[in-house]
Amino acid sequence: MIEIQDIHKSFGDNHVLKGIDAIFEPGRVSLIIGGSGSGKSTLLKCIVGLHQPEQGKVYFDRQEFTQMDSEDRVSIRRDIGMLFQNSALFDSMTVEQNIVFGLDMFTDMSKKEKIDRANFCLERVNLKGTNKLYPAELSGGMKKRVGIARAISMSPKYLFCDEPNSGLDPATSILIDELIQELTGEYQCTTIVVTHDMNSVMGIGEYILFLHKGEKFWEGSNEEMLQADVAELNNFVFASPLMKAARNTIK
Ligand SMILES: Nc1ncnc2c1ncn2[C@@H]1O[C@H](COP(=O)(O)OP(=O)(O)OP(=O)(O)O)[C@@H](O)[C@H]1O
Ligand SMILES: [Mg+2]
Repeated sequence: MIEIQDIHKSFGDNHVLKGIDAIFEPGRVSLIIGGSGSGKSTLLKCIVGLHQPEQGKVYFDRQEFTQMDSEDRVSIRRDIGMLFQNSALFDSMTVEQNIVFGLDMFTDMSKKEKIDRANFCLERVNLKGTNKLYPAELSGGMKKRVGIARAISMSPKYLFCDEPNSGLDPATSILIDELIQELTGEYQCTTIVVTHDMNSVMGIGEYILFLHKGEKFWEGSNEEMLQADVAELNNFVFASPLMKAARNTIK
């Protein structure tokens, strides 16, 4: 479980996060949604420790992360898997080397154990046999799956995905969402996905946190979201013609 309390983050005069509270449960995919610039990525980075919030606390299974020194943070970081926006693979490394990289840094596994683990993770994301390919030889969806394979290589307790569907076609997006959901169940990890993809929200939005101008405007499930009477949320959710049409069939 991850709990955040009263998170504030500014960049100069730009007060980006204005006191965010939330609880993210294990074994469940939680979504952070909101318009561009609403602070989603900033919040995710505050949670994983890539940004230091000026105020507020982040607890990983009741351990207070924000005030830990860098040595103590390593023990939590080992349990974190992260899929970055644009996958952030190392272009000069093969698929296998990309996955083994984290195992080299954080484990004392033998070479064979690391390769076996890489093979297991690649099989899990349906990319068996791609070990020797370079990122430039992969499609966008394949890169995301390598990013996921890398994120799960250390059997994470906490899985973070920033825009896992950006740039993917709807069918591939659904496969990625299903994969993230399955892995969350398998590892019982606490998973947080940042997205503005309404298909994902409707597909896997069991718990949704809606940010607007750096504030938590609303939280709930996708079903509750469709019925919610919050103008800022409705403007976001029903912005596309498809969702507008869906709303008319619901009413
Ligand atoms: N490293 C940074 N330095 C300065 N300002 C930043 C930095 N990162 C984010 N910001 C600012 O914080 C605000 C929120 O940015 P953030 O990236 O969190 O938005 P977002 O909700 O993820 O948007 P998007 O959907 O476009 O990815 C923006 O005004 C942005 O300019
Ligand atoms: Mg972002």
